[in-house]
Amino acid sequence: MDLVKEINRLRKEKNAIILAHYYQDGAIQDIADYVGDSLGLSQQAAETDADIIVFAGVHFMAETAKILSPSKKVVLPDLNAGCSLADSCPPEAFKKFTEQHPDHIVITYVNCSAEIKALSDIVCTSSNALKIVNSVPKDTPIIFAPDKNLGRYIIKETGRDMLLWDGSCIVHEAFSMDKLIELHKKHPDYKIIAHPESETHILDTATYIGSTSGMINYVKEHQDEKFIVATEAGILHKMQLEMPNTELIPAPAVEDNTCACSECHFMKMNTMQKLYDCLLNESPSIDVPEPLRSRALLPIERMLELSK
Ligand code: 13P
Ligand code: SF4
Repeated sequence: MDLVKEINRLRKEKNAIILAHYYQDGAIQDIADYVGDSLGLSQQAAETDADIIVFAGVHFMAETAKILSPSKKVVLPDLNAGCSLADSCPPEAFKKFTEQHPDHIVITYVNCSAEIKALSDIVCTSSNALKIVNSVPKDTPIIFAPDKNLGRYIIKETGRDMLLWDGSCIVHEAFSMDKLIELHKKHPDYKIIAHPESETHILDTATYIGSTSGMINYVKEHQDEKFIVATEAGILHKMQLEMPNTELIPAPAVEDNTCACSECHFMKMNTMQKLYDCLLNESPSIDVPEPLRSRALLPIERMLELSK
């Protein structure tokens, strides 16, 4: 079966839109109506007039799309496509933590469950985190969750003293500092760019730190330079597609990682076959029951409003 042809036929027949994150396999990115970072994907999900949203990403992303567009059917090619960062913040424990600090504003990174969003005052993504934190009055204390690495980066950039939840992304913590130094010694003319989910020692080596979209734009603006890219390796697909002559190397990961570079095995659970199957069967679909959905919507809407 010609999967590309069949997906295109079904997409048209069912008035479906395919949204894909930059960490998806190249073939999935190529067939998507929109490829973007977490913020861009949420904005697309909120604005689309499609009847079905096929979310080629991970569970929290599809769930955010459903929270924003409850009347649409949202399907995820593989329901097991989770996220280590979202998993590192269980709702019960987080609720207790927030109750211990009732005077704090709760800002959560979008990589968390609907339950955590419902416990938050405002959500952020990596592309607007600094703006969102800076929007909180200086004398208001902040809890930031779940990503401690992004949290530390925000503290450094904004000078705000935030209480951090102890969560992290296994992919961005898999970069090997020793291998990175070795690689950079071999290629001293390459600049390092990094995603803020990476650990501080990796970020300290970077010329540019930003969201996936931010990193792509940075490379676009510096096409004559060469880069070592410290984020999930799927991003290189888009970079090479748009900047075919720019030399890029994915940052190396520790030995026991599934690939020599950092790959997110959750993101890679989605395949073209599963994308076709979920579009055909309109399943597995994402459901977020009320009143959880409405409670989780508020902090996302605040973020979207501040990101205009
Ligand atoms: P952004 O694409 O928003 O930078 O997020 C990266 C990520 O880890 C998504 O899981
Ligand atoms: Fe989660 Fe990290 Fe994978 Fe992003 S790259 S989905 S944060 S595990």
